[in-house]
Amino acid sequence: MEGRDSVTGADFIAIKALENGVTIIGLTRGKDTKFHHSEKLDKGEIMIAQFTEHTSAMKIRGRALVLTKYGSLEAGE
Ligand code: TRP
Repeated sequence: MEGRDSVTGADFIAIKALENGVTIIGLTRGKDTKFHHSEKLDKGEIMIAQFTEHTSAMKIRGRALVLTKYGSLEAGE
């Protein structure tokens, strides 16, 4: 990845909230698994995010459309 490090060059995922109050929670990378960030989206809002050295997993609460390079899935309901 010329000119980009392994974090900024990582794949993105897109999350679109299908209802108000969808929460995206970032979980820490490494031995301990803790919440380190949460983000609230209202209906129609989109977040584009990457997994980084700090974040190895994300939890999505509420109705949302999640798009990744592996495919798309709907969370909630
Ligand atoms: N801290 C864990 C890790 O870096 C976070 C994690 C990633 C996790 N994938 C998981 C926790 C799957 C439970 C299940 O590996």
